[in-house]
Amino acid sequence: MFAVNVIILLCLMSASHAAPLGCEVLLRPLDQLDARHLEGRWLLVIGGMCDLSHVESFKSRDSASLNFANASESSKMSLTHIFGFGDSCRYRHFNITLGESSFTYDQSNHTVRFLHTSCPDCLVMRFDNESQKTLRLYLFSRRREVEQEKVEEFRAQVECLKLLPPVMMDPTKELCPEQSNHHSAASED
Ligand SMILES: *[C@@H]1O[C@H](CO)[C@@H](O)[C@H](O)[C@H]1NC(C)=O
Ligand SMILES: *[C@@H]1O[C@H](CO)[C@@H](O)[C@H](O)[C@H]1NC(C)=O
Ligand SMILES: *[C@@H]1O[C@H](CO)[C@@H](O)[C@H](O)[C@H]1NC(C)=O
Ligand SMILES: *[C@@H]1O[C@H](CO)[C@@H](O)[C@H](O)[C@H]1NC(C)=O
Repeated sequence: MFAVNVIILLCLMSASHAAPLGCEVLLRPLDQLDARHLEGRWLLVIGGMCDLSHVESFKSRDSASLNFANASESSKMSLTHIFGFGDSCRYRHFNITLGESSFTYDQSNHTVRFLHTSCPDCLVMRFDNESQKTLRLYLFSRRREVEQEKVEEFRAQVECLKLLPPVMMDPTKELCPEQSNHHSAASED
């Protein structure tokens, strides 16, 4: 019994010592970014933010998704942000330039980094400001919901970045159509 307790204690000690290394592993960048893999639609599942005003605007959206398009030989691509609020949908178009494990918005020079994730049909995207302070971390997937184990991995990433506890999107809310339909109440800017 004593021996078992000692082993448990040693495990706990090594686990707590390993914490910083754990974060290093959890926050490693995606190895290789493939434009073809990015193409198409990604649905926001859960997001962690650094301040309450971001949390409030996050909660005001019924759905959020990204549509990557126009992959080509060059590193240029199109990206549409799609947000649903009640009956209306908002679309914003951007041109982006892909990096090794990141992309940059051409209009703003803002860089978004992809982190490694064990979820094969997910993207974990890290938004930092100019002083490398992480403002937001988002988990997107081809699906609206991912396994609990993948959510836990994401929560650990959020904790490593010292963000507020993450907020889940409601997967039962209606999604916006992929393209804006000018006959509906969609707005573009
Ligand atoms: C892809 O490129 C074409 C031609 O430049 C453009 O008309 C189209 O809107 C682009 N698609 C998206 C989603 O931006
Ligand atoms: C993206 O680039 C294309 C081609 O250079 C341009 O026509 C289009 O206006 C750009 N879109 C945005 C949102 O800047
Ligand atoms: C982006 O960065 C380049 C090089 O640093 C600079 O020349 C350009 O003005 C910047 N563009 C914007 C929109 O900030
Ligand atoms: C980045 O965000 C942090 C925390 O909100 C802030 O203190 C810092 O001034 C920001 N830096 C820039 C360049 O915006």
